[in-house]
Amino acid sequence: MFNEETRLAAPIRWGLVGGGRGSEIGHSHRAAAVRDHLFTFVAGAMDLSAARCKDFGKSLGLDEDRCYPDYATMFAKEAQRDDGIQAVSIATPNSTHFEIAKAALENGLHVICEKPVTIHVHEAETLKAIAKQHNRFFAVMYGYSGYPMIHQAREMVQRGDIGEVRIVNMQFAHGFHSAEVEKFSDGAKWRMSPEVSGPSFIIGDCGTHPFYLASLITGLQVSSLLCSKQSFIESRSPLEDNANILFKFEGGAVGTLWQVR
Ligand SMILES: NC(=O)c1ccc[n+]([C@@H]2O[C@H](COP(=O)([O-])OP(=O)(O)OC[C@H]3O[C@@H](n4cnc5c(N)ncnc54)[C@H](O)[C@@H]3O)[C@@H](O)[C@H]2O)c1
Repeated sequence: MFNEETRLAAPIRWGLVGGGRGSEIGHSHRAAAVRDHLFTFVAGAMDLSAARCKDFGKSLGLDEDRCYPDYATMFAKEAQRDDGIQAVSIATPNSTHFEIAKAALENGLHVICEKPVTIHVHEAETLKAIAKQHNRFFAVMYGYSGYPMIHQAREMVQRGDIGEVRIVNMQFAHGFHSAEVEKFSDGAKWRMSPEVSGPSFIIGDCGTHPFYLASLITGLQVSSLLCSKQSFIESRSPLEDNANILFKFEGGAVGTLWQVR
């Protein structure tokens, strides 16, 4: 955990793909990256619209010529600079993570990728292999894992304070998408499109967070699971906005995960 002491000779030169003006998560990346002076924000391909990226980038203090129309141009142009980016965050809709992350790693960049990391397991495994091959970090934005109480819980489990873990109860009741908000929100619209969101809306969008936290705290590995999922809003079919999962973990522990939008 960061304790205020910077051991870097200089901040890491950092770029952002996605997370443009008005996006849900872009601000969190920018604010978190620069807060402790560990990163410096120098380039962006933040938007599907090149003009909006440039306008927004300039308002954030980026050089105009480092506001790029797309990620491929950014990676290519930045690679030609002595002061080019060293790391990139990817904050675009889910189905684009794989191709952008792959290109970033192949251009020698360290990657911070939004969740769900990819739509298919084999894509995530490919990224893991490429990151290893290029000796680059690949981080996934499970932001809630930064809270001190999560680390305290993990230490308590590891120390044996609560004995053997038998039951893991996970919940994420979100609320914002409980009505048809996709009618007026672009950020909600792609979430309801299986080809962009992935085969499960609720599990990739919400469930992945508590599941990751439970894995971090307990270290348990799932051996089998049973899932019931559905949508309470007819127009969202076949995607679902509510899911209940029953888990069996290796070693005999069991668990439940309820997630709802
Ligand atoms: N970690 C978290 O807690 C958390 C929270 C919210 C969203 N997310 C994740 O962040 C990602 C983005 O979600 P959002 O809610 O910010 O979406 P959003 O729709 O609000 O914003 C997406 C942004 O990416 C831009 N964009 C889209 N495709 C692009 C491309 N190919 N190249 C460059 N820019 C592109 C859009 O113009 C827009 O600015 C999703 O994967 C989502 O699951 C994570």
